[in-house]
Amino acid sequence: MSRMINVALPKGRLGEDVYALFASAGYECPELLEENRKLTFENEAAGVRYFWVKPSDVAIYVERGAADIGVAGKDIILEYSPDAYELLDLNMGKCRMCVAGPKDFTDSHTGILRVATKFPAIARRHYAAQSREIDVIRLNGSIELAPILGLSDVIVDIVETGKTLKENGLAVLEEIVPISARLIANKANYKFKGAEIDALRQKLMEAVDA
Ligand code: PRP
Repeated sequence: MSRMINVALPKGRLGEDVYALFASAGYECPELLEENRKLTFENEAAGVRYFWVKPSDVAIYVERGAADIGVAGKDIILEYSPDAYELLDLNMGKCRMCVAGPKDFTDSHTGILRVATKFPAIARRHYAAQSREIDVIRLNGSIELAPILGLSDVIVDIVETGKTLKENGLAVLEEIVPISARLIANKANYKFKGAEIDALRQKLMEAVDA
């Protein structure tokens, strides 16, 4: 008998695109698009159960085994370094992790650089590699405001179209790493449900390449 796979999907537009990919790979659950407050959905015949999870929480559900697999942005994976397998690059949700700031900003390398970000671990690693001392200012959103109001010198944030930076008179100063959505799996559950998860991964891989 084949076992159900529990999948944590990131709530929002990326999650809907990811679900469309899973559906095209044979893991449909049409009810998921109809009910907008429900958080769990199941298609027993397809062997799959979905949960809508806050994108930044996907790695936690997977790491602790509440979900067998999940889809998380590489940004979340780099920030939280979850103890999970990264199985596949889904080639969607593409963007870049960047240092951005006022267009004419140049780092004088004197004093401590003030960096506003939702990604303190990524920011710390990036500047540690340059031996640059920084003060991380941890924010939860609207990061672009920080250099505009003088709260920080630069930001470390995700840039997708570049529109937010442009409309706020900011620019990319350094590209840190390209980002895309990844399929991740809980290590213990992967051993237990390896056949089912490998089959799903294979079908997803074909759907990504199609
Ligand atoms: C993200 C990111 C940027 C913006 C980049 O914010 O933090 O602000 O998207 O996209 P763009 O390059 O296409 O303009 P999000 O929409 O997640 O909102 P937030 O302010 O809550 O972080």
